[in-house]
Amino acid sequence: PGTVPVTLKVNGQTHSVQIDPRATLLDTLRETLHLTGTKKGCDHGQCGACTVHVNGRRVNSCLTFAAMLQTAAIETIEGLGQPGNLHPMQAAFVEHDGFQCGYCTSGQIMSAVAMLKEPWGPADADVKEAMSGNICRCGAYPNIVAAVQSIRH
Ligand code: FES
Repeated sequence: PGTVPVTLKVNGQTHSVQIDPRATLLDTLRETLHLTGTKKGCDHGQCGACTVHVNGRRVNSCLTFAAMLQTAAIETIEGLGQPGNLHPMQAAFVEHDGFQCGYCTSGQIMSAVAMLKEPWGPADADVKEAMSGNICRCGAYPNIVAAVQSIRH
């Protein structure tokens, strides 16, 4: 199949790439731009491992065509913080042990950061509902909630 030229702005950097118009944002991030912090779990919108921000809102990058995002501001976990200069939410996940194997963690953190700008209530139950699109197969949920709540309060 043919490819199309696409210009993507990821973590403040502009990338001109040549991609299959059917390529997902997830595959483009990982395979074309080599930003592998964003993870592929289910590849069909069920697990949240692939969560990134598009114009500040969380999206499942496995359900989004990269070619549709020419004018969008895309942020991935690599843009959020770096070793030695972690985003407060990343530091909170470390502090509260908000992971076990870590595969879901970048999606959890991207989801949590965007969720803080959404109109959810302060109760643990609201955090669980707000984060229900992000699955943790290890079951680290109590610590994930504690990490998110430590930033909210
Ligand atoms: Fe996108 Fe699971 S990989 S939701």
